[in-house]
Amino acid sequence: MGGIPVSLGPEVTRKMDVQSEVGPVCDIILAAKNVCLLTGAGISAESGIPTFRGEEGLWKTYRAEQLATFQAFIQDPKLVWEWYDWRRGIIASKEPNAGHKVLAEWEELFPHFTLITQNIDGLHQRAGSKNVIELHGNIWKHRCIDETTITENHDVPLKEIPPRCDKCGALLRPHVVWFGESLDGSILHKSFQLSSGCDVMFSIGTSAVVQPAASLPLSAAEAGAKVIEINPDPTPLTGSADFSFRAKSGEFLPILDKELKRQTKQKKG
Ligand code: APR
Repeated sequence: MGGIPVSLGPEVTRKMDVQSEVGPVCDIILAAKNVCLLTGAGISAESGIPTFRGEEGLWKTYRAEQLATFQAFIQDPKLVWEWYDWRRGIIASKEPNAGHKVLAEWEELFPHFTLITQNIDGLHQRAGSKNVIELHGNIWKHRCIDETTITENHDVPLKEIPPRCDKCGALLRPHVVWFGESLDGSILHKSFQLSSGCDVMFSIGTSAVVQPAASLPLSAAEAGAKVIEINPDPTPLTGSADFSFRAKSGEFLPILDKELKRQTKQKKG
């Protein structure tokens, strides 16, 4: 896998030789005590799950305001649930990829390791990640719109559309954050606390345009952390990142992992 374009801060963008440049990045990662990561739809792309704003992204095909707002849900819960049932079907038929698996392994590697995801697909957990902070909820959880109780449901397809609360009979909604809705305050507070307290912050597979998630790597940079971005395309974060690799996470994370292990072995002598 010849040179991968890497931008080293705002001025410098050049083709990199994997060994010569991944090495310095690994030095920084191995010296870190506290590693924090933000992932987006891109990390699940190589598992065959569509992203939102990519070529065949969901928002290119479907209108978010028709399917991913509370108003749309109240107007037509059946339509919204049919869409989420379709997405659950796709996700259930896919497997975590090498990128998810490397991050699950890294959880054991660092004294402090925080994985924050915007993804609702649950693939990090299926890859073995234990402590995942889900900013935008989880597609395998339902929430009662009256009692707000959250229940897990893995039926594919759903037995009833729209599903209803067993206890009170009210409509259940997907336990996800829709446009125009705020994130869970305690989850957000914890995410900003952890990202601004880390030594190294990764931003993997996100277009870095959706707030407040997109501010997490910036808060880490402001607090002095090294920011490492992995994305085949540049994003609004690229100029603020210390390293930005133009690469697919499912291909690049195993390379990084291999070099980390090589260096760790070398250091142990
Ligand atoms: N590896 C790494 N990154 C990839 C890959 C890959 N194999 N394939 C695509 N990408 C990148 C794209 O270049 C793009 O920048 O992943 C990013 C995906 O961006 P979006 O589709 O905008 O997804 P995301 O950033 O997660 O969206 C944020 O927006 O629609 C809402 O709630 C939804 O959580 C979502 C939020």
